[in-house]
Amino acid sequence: MCGIVGVLGNHEAAPLLVEALKRLEYRGYDSAGIATLNHGTLDRRRAVGKLVNLSDLLVHEPLAGKAGIGHTRWATHGAPNTTNAHPHRAGGVAVVHNGIIENYRDLRAELSAKGVEFATETDTETVVLLVEQAMQAGMNAVQAVDATLARLEGAFALVFLFEGQDDLLIAARKGSPLAIGHGDGEMFVGSDAIALSPLTDRITYLEEGDRAVVTRTTLDIVDANGTRANREVRQVHVDSARVDKGGYKHFMMKEIMQQPTVIGECVNAYLSEDGRDVVLPGAGVDFTRVERMTMVACGTAFYACLTAKYWFEQLARLPVEVDIASEFRYREPPVSPGTAALFVSQSGETADTLAALRYSTGKADRILSVVNVAESSIARESDLALPIHAGVEIGVASTKAFTCQLTVLLLMALKAAHARGHLSDDALADHLSALRGLPGHLNHALDLARDVDAAARKISEARDVLFLGRGAMYPLALEGALKLKEISYIHAEGYASGELKHGPIALIERDVPVIVMAPHDGLFDKTVSNMQEVIARGAQVVLMTDAAGAKRAGEDCMTLLTLPEVPALLAPILYAIPAQLLAYYAAVAKGTDVDQPRNLAKSVTVE
Ligand code: F6R
Repeated sequence: MCGIVGVLGNHEAAPLLVEALKRLEYRGYDSAGIATLNHGTLDRRRAVGKLVNLSDLLVHEPLAGKAGIGHTRWATHGAPNTTNAHPHRAGGVAVVHNGIIENYRDLRAELSAKGVEFATETDTETVVLLVEQAMQAGMNAVQAVDATLARLEGAFALVFLFEGQDDLLIAARKGSPLAIGHGDGEMFVGSDAIALSPLTDRITYLEEGDRAVVTRTTLDIVDANGTRANREVRQVHVDSARVDKGGYKHFMMKEIMQQPTVIGECVNAYLSEDGRDVVLPGAGVDFTRVERMTMVACGTAFYACLTAKYWFEQLARLPVEVDIASEFRYREPPVSPGTAALFVSQSGETADTLAALRYSTGKADRILSVVNVAESSIARESDLALPIHAGVEIGVASTKAFTCQLTVLLLMALKAAHARGHLSDDALADHLSALRGLPGHLNHALDLARDVDAAARKISEARDVLFLGRGAMYPLALEGALKLKEISYIHAEGYASGELKHGPIALIERDVPVIVMAPHDGLFDKTVSNMQEVIARGAQVVLMTDAAGAKRAGEDCMTLLTLPEVPALLAPILYAIPAQLLAYYAAVAKGTDVDQPRNLAKSVTVE
């Protein structure tokens, strides 16, 4: 995690660095800092907590200079305090770092043995000390960085700034993304193109193992073998609306409310002109040749994959294995020919998902991805990347990206079912027509906000909350619980309703809230039986269902949330809305930091 930025400009660097860091705060907000060169002299400012604290500090203690580096931190090694905040400095060298130096203990011991003293508890400080030592020994900046990089194990994106060298930044990438922005007589470095979007839209992405020497007018890159590398300059289009809440109190609410629009756009982007077929980008996927699918992701994206398993297996009769990326990557699973490996990620930079993709490359027949950030590492390293068209998502808790992921996965499952002969032309057209109507239903679900708010206020006082669902609503129960715990800090668990009697029912005592997600489908009666079992033991049930379900089973519930009736396939997307609203309002009632919950970051670029 952590966001890093560098500027070699013709104007004051500090405001540009802070503006870029604002766009990177989704990567962490434990501390922030910048360092600049003012007529060759290196100086830095650092503040614990959110970026606003650094901005305040800079008002009282400004930093001049047209070259600089900046950092927003998600703490890995060392407590989130000012001492451990980046940029780290040794003599005339400063560095910002995203990633983890895995062998830092050995390096630290080696430096300590030479009498070197450490000011921080971080892994990063060893890097800057090694560079400084190498320069003391007579190397120039580039040689010193190269000698240091050769000793580092782990994942990193690094940017170095050198006292007395006003026209030099050195950047390096291994495992963590890094983009170089080209201006007119200016150059920029950032963790992603979004950070640099107010400065330039001309971007060069560093590849794995690259080291770049950057001046205001030149960019020299060498690859992992030390060979000069030519990397393309791309014109990148990024949504510049990323810091605008659009009148809402929180980004999360804005993003919840955007769902009817972005899902409508997402569906349209994949429909043929006559609306009767699904058109996948590029060469598409020949599902007749796919024997099985492996889906890999983390967190909310993993729950999207779990839902898609139901769709691919039921509709397309295609066996699907779903795995958490952090498990998949180290389990060494056999990936045999005939497998299409699919990686789902909003950011496209999640370290474990990217590692799982790299593990599968060369083993699976096709590497597919479902991503929001089109220029991300996961998108670029896939044979085919399917965009979810959600637009920039800022709230740390994923909302619109989840439902857009589900939408793309459902479109893929329908395409697969049709290609494999399990869905007629007309049946496919009917499903697609229903999908086109989904935004209207989502709007109706959003109309429930007031009722959900009332239920959430009661739930906000609970210590534990259970979510129950069956079939494709089971992954949604997991997602509902994740959403609630991550932003309201209330302990919550999702269970398959049928599992209740195998242990979790022991948790039920008087007044424990249980959220039951049960559209009136073929599994409804089964789920309602489980609901009655918890009511009989004193639970307070919030039932999310449709009109038919409400009529059958609404009476005994604490709260009844009646959603529109939709075809069963669409229910997981629709029922995500009240689950998100419930978490949102519970968090607001508890007064937590909805958009930037404690300990979390939007993009998890370390494992
Ligand atoms: C939860 C959430 C996380 C992410 C997970 C994967 O609300 O956002 O669980 O889903 O960290 O991130 P991506 O999709 O960027 O790979």
